[in-house]
Amino acid sequence: MSEEGLSNSERRMLGKMQADSVRQWSLNELLKSCSWSDQATVVTAGHGLSNKGLATINEVINKTWTLGAEGEVALTNGLLEDRLLKWLVTQPEGERGMRDLSNSSFEKHESGPGVGLLKGLGVTIQAGSLCLPEDFETVESVIATRFAFLEQLRDGCEELQLDTDLLNHFRGRKGLLVSTEATIRTWQITEEGCGISSGNLAEVEQIISITPELLANDAWKSAEFKPYDVSLESKTPITGKSHPMQALIERVRAVFLEMGFSEIEGNFVQSAGWNMDALFIPQDHPAREMQDTFYLDNPATFDIPSERLEQWKSIHEDGGDTGSIGWGGAYSTDISQKGLLRTHTTVNTIQHLAANPNAPCRIFSVGRVFRKESIDRTHLPEFHQIEGIIMEPGANLPMLVTMLKTFYAKMGYPEVRVRPAYFPYTEPSLEVEVKWRGKWLELGGAGIFRPEVTEPLGCSAPVCAWGMGLERLAMLVLDLDDIRQLYISDLEWLRTQPIL
Ligand code: PHE
Repeated sequence: MSEEGLSNSERRMLGKMQADSVRQWSLNELLKSCSWSDQATVVTAGHGLSNKGLATINEVINKTWTLGAEGEVALTNGLLEDRLLKWLVTQPEGERGMRDLSNSSFEKHESGPGVGLLKGLGVTIQAGSLCLPEDFETVESVIATRFAFLEQLRDGCEELQLDTDLLNHFRGRKGLLVSTEATIRTWQITEEGCGISSGNLAEVEQIISITPELLANDAWKSAEFKPYDVSLESKTPITGKSHPMQALIERVRAVFLEMGFSEIEGNFVQSAGWNMDALFIPQDHPAREMQDTFYLDNPATFDIPSERLEQWKSIHEDGGDTGSIGWGGAYSTDISQKGLLRTHTTVNTIQHLAANPNAPCRIFSVGRVFRKESIDRTHLPEFHQIEGIIMEPGANLPMLVTMLKTFYAKMGYPEVRVRPAYFPYTEPSLEVEVKWRGKWLELGGAGIFRPEVTEPLGCSAPVCAWGMGLERLAMLVLDLDDIRQLYISDLEWLRTQPIL
């Protein structure tokens, strides 16, 4: 390594270190001898010299202990064992039982651990009563040592200077101590560093940025440019980027488009007829209840052509012309006309089929759906579904499974399995599971639409359909334990999210 490519700070630092080749230079020593005020200059120059083999960096992690919140309290009010002991001494005999303790001014969370501490100090419990140890003085001196230890930590203290037994004792007690770690660096010159002649360490004017003025004449040709070190650590810039949910939607979209699918869209506000009846969901299905579905006051009802209503009615009651026997019972066209917020995007799929019953297609949609769920770690009343169909002559179950496996593999989850499931509108029906952290996670449903669904619309080709929760997938992709994290606008979290 030669002196070439040395920055001015590196030259200065090396020059100073050459004066003492065996010394481990501390930060302050280097700041002083180089006449710098910013420690970053030393760190950067030291880093550069070390990369070039001209100096070595020695790092020691230094652990410092200070008082935690409980420690501060103990310093003001006395240690818990001390306070308890004082209480015990002043209690009349016969009133030193556990019940007396719980009626005393001690907090509930103090009495349990407190008695444990007292026992550790030799207090015994006899016939339900706390008994003072014989050697009371020793106990008092132990407490005094503990208190002195806490006082020692008032302004922080390096771990090496602390009594190990006492430190271990207090580490086992909640909230009394906290520790911080700092890296202490020293720098030493290497043999190679010593070999650079001082004449080569003269600082020269270096050009840091290229400006139009600089290029106006030829002076730059003889100038020295400051070399860049692209390996240096730097701040992560805070820039605008898509929200992770939006980014994920874009990725899902890209994958389906790449697989030859086209996207469809639909309305949030729908009739129960299209959302449920058209999908052969029985009218007494629990998911239709008020407590599961958001029914609307406005529009409270939809006008649906009577032929359509009659068609649904006959299919539900006796199967109509489909060869099915239907659900039986009486079908209410009033129920079909009710307005609601769509509970799944399958409503848009079915409307697409109704409008294009005989045009083979591969379509998908990504959209918001609404269900009356209580919000918790894995549930939201508003979430997104990804869903789609393949309709073409010869479409079949293996094709559906392969398509789903391909989709998840493209998303980065190659291990997929399907299990038999049930939906009122598909037969056969299946559940899709993805292996994540060694466990199988259910991500969606799929199947082939039943004749009760497709025949009334006039579809002649089989329709493979699937639907899955996008937030579920997001939890997996972003490694989340709580689904709410996606929507609380936590800037700190958003900034650290990967670009998907
Ligand atoms: N609609 C189903 C749901 O909301 C998913 C599904 C779609 C299942 C298509 C089968 C076929 O969970």
